[in-house]
Amino acid sequence: MFHFHAGFMGAAFAVLLSGWLVARYARRRRWWLRVHRGLAYGGVFMVFAGFTVMSLGKTGGHFRVPHAWLGAAVLALAVATPVLGNLQFVFREKMKGIRAAHRFSGRVTLGLMGINIFSGLRLAGLL
Ligand code: HEM
Ligand code: HEM
Repeated sequence: MFHFHAGFMGAAFAVLLSGWLVARYARRRRWWLRVHRGLAYGGVFMVFAGFTVMSLGKTGGHFRVPHAWLGAAVLALAVATPVLGNLQFVFREKMKGIRAAHRFSGRVTLGLMGINIFSGLRLAGLL
């Protein structure tokens, strides 16, 4: 279960990072939003798959170590970011503010994931 957890989270990070790179550097292409959104949903799915395998597979209590607390924040942001991403097209009159919030929460999500992968590797004694 541990290997699946680490594998899903590592893959999720790579996929979400690619999604960010598309939004950052490929925005002149016609397909950017479709690809950004597709990678985002794929990455979020993998985050939840990684969480599920660890939660179901582990013995002992849940959310007891800092890695798990930061992980919980990542889970929350992995929901909030795509919601904000979509809301900017629903409330078009508030697009600017929602877009700024989406960008911010997307960057924080990726930053915290990077830190948590590092912390997970340390927790597992691999670093
Ligand atoms: C962004 C990446 C990651 C996120 C969001 C994340 C999230 C989480 C969460 C939420 C838990 C708590 C599960 C529960 O208590 O039910 C957890 C546990 C754990 N994770 Fe991760 N994780 C990530 C990456 C990694 C990596 C790369 C490793 C190791 C190579 C790792 C190793 C562990 C271990 C060993 C536990 C069990 C901790 C315990 O004994 O309570 N994680 N992770
Ligand atoms: C977890 C999922 C997601 C993450 C991590 C994420 C992350 C980001 C980031 C970091 C940026 C800013 C890029 C930059 O300029 O540096 C961005 C831009 C954008 N994202 Fe997402 N995103 C996600 C999901 C979505 C979804 C589902 C939509 C739905 C339509 C969306 C729509 C947009 C749009 C329209 C922009 C462009 C904003 C602008 O023009 O500056 N995103 N995203």
